[in-house]
Amino acid sequence: MRTQIAIIGAGPSGLLLGQLLHGQGIDTVILENRSADYVLGRIRAGVIEQGMVGLLEEAGVAARLHGEGLVHGGTEITFDDTRHRIDFKKLTGKTVTVYGQTEITRDLMEARAASGAPTIYEAQDVTPLDFDGEKPRVRYRKDGKDHELACDFIAGCDGFHGVSRQSVPAGSIELFERVYPFGWLGILSDTPPVSDELIYINHERGFALCSMRSHTRSRYYLQCSLAEHVEDWSDSRFWDELKLRLDKEGRERLVTGASIEKSIAPLRSFVAEPMRFGRLFLAGDAAHIVPPTGAKGLNLAASDVHYLSRALVEFYREKSSAGIDHYSGRALARIWKAERFSWWMTTMLHRFPESSGFDRRLQHAELDYLVSSSAAAVAMAENYVGLPY
Ligand code: FAD
Ligand code: DHB
Repeated sequence: MRTQIAIIGAGPSGLLLGQLLHGQGIDTVILENRSADYVLGRIRAGVIEQGMVGLLEEAGVAARLHGEGLVHGGTEITFDDTRHRIDFKKLTGKTVTVYGQTEITRDLMEARAASGAPTIYEAQDVTPLDFDGEKPRVRYRKDGKDHELACDFIAGCDGFHGVSRQSVPAGSIELFERVYPFGWLGILSDTPPVSDELIYINHERGFALCSMRSHTRSRYYLQCSLAEHVEDWSDSRFWDELKLRLDKEGRERLVTGASIEKSIAPLRSFVAEPMRFGRLFLAGDAAHIVPPTGAKGLNLAASDVHYLSRALVEFYREKSSAGIDHYSGRALARIWKAERFSWWMTTMLHRFPESSGFDRRLQHAELDYLVSSSAAAVAMAENYVGLPY
């Protein structure tokens, strides 16, 4: 079998890249090691920048997002039991859209199926080969048979634990990492959200976030210790802890109910440099991770795909390798800004186990500055709604 671009991974990065390239007449085959249902069962991000909305429009998959997504013109930040609003629309002219990653993935999967472009689910032992030469290939096994896919380029869109980054010789890649000493316990419930906008909460018992998926479905997160087990968190224990971290109005308005998903995610900052190795490119979580506090993970995956799709179109249309030569540098410049913002939001809002009285006073001063200085609020808003591509 042969294709122009072999894409490893059918998460948002791989599916969006496939759809954008298909729109430009470039052939792709996607190899995914899980089933489509498993990929759709993962509950993850929920906040979409305008830049990503534009890419989804370009890919022809934004109709449901425009119908069902919730446009938010600001967010709330709570500390000292007091809520403050950061008005994105007034400060930057931009908004964000609340629409689940699961729904984006579903829309992309349906569009790909309709286009007839192949996705091979449950492909085992996917292995990128010979990407340092002119004729890269990807080997995989399906239903007990070995297969080989010849291609012009390989796009490694296979997430943090994927095979693409791990196939690069150790001497050719540099890794940068920070692991945080806590995780997020998240639940999804069919209850109306506690507020019209998201609430980021700094509290002495730990960070909390009130988010949503629709007017009838809520997503809440609590900072928790990494030693916690999800089985030890009954729904009532979760709601009791959330009430302790909410302000008075939030406590009174919170509607509780049965959870439909509950999971714990660790927090990490991670960047791999560079993002191109001959004819292999990394995109999305395969190349970088941010802690979720700034809602940047999915949006960064989309900006990588933006740069990569344009570079590949330029290669085929104009016979120019300028775009692919600049891909890594362009993507990394944006990635490091999002890494900085996500680290800053995480540091400002969480309770660090080792923090001293001095650290806590500084954290309070940072929050106080954010809500009392328009320059500080603009800087936060500009990063949250997304820097230009
Ligand atoms: P992924 O979504 O990880 O997709 C990679 C795909 O590759 C997967 O389908 C995987 O099965 C497949 N794959 C892996 N290995 C192989 C292989 N060897 N062969 C073939 N296929 C393979 N971001 C936010 O902004 N807000 C959040 O609240 C948030 N919560 C998150 C919670 C969790 C638990 C995780 C893990 C991430 C979260 N993120 C969040 C980050 C966001 O979901 C990711 O940035 C986004 O999914 C990146 O998309 P991706 O396509 O690059 O990677
Ligand atoms: C969601 C997750 C985030 O990490 C965030 O910053 C905002 C919203 C969410 O899952 O809804």
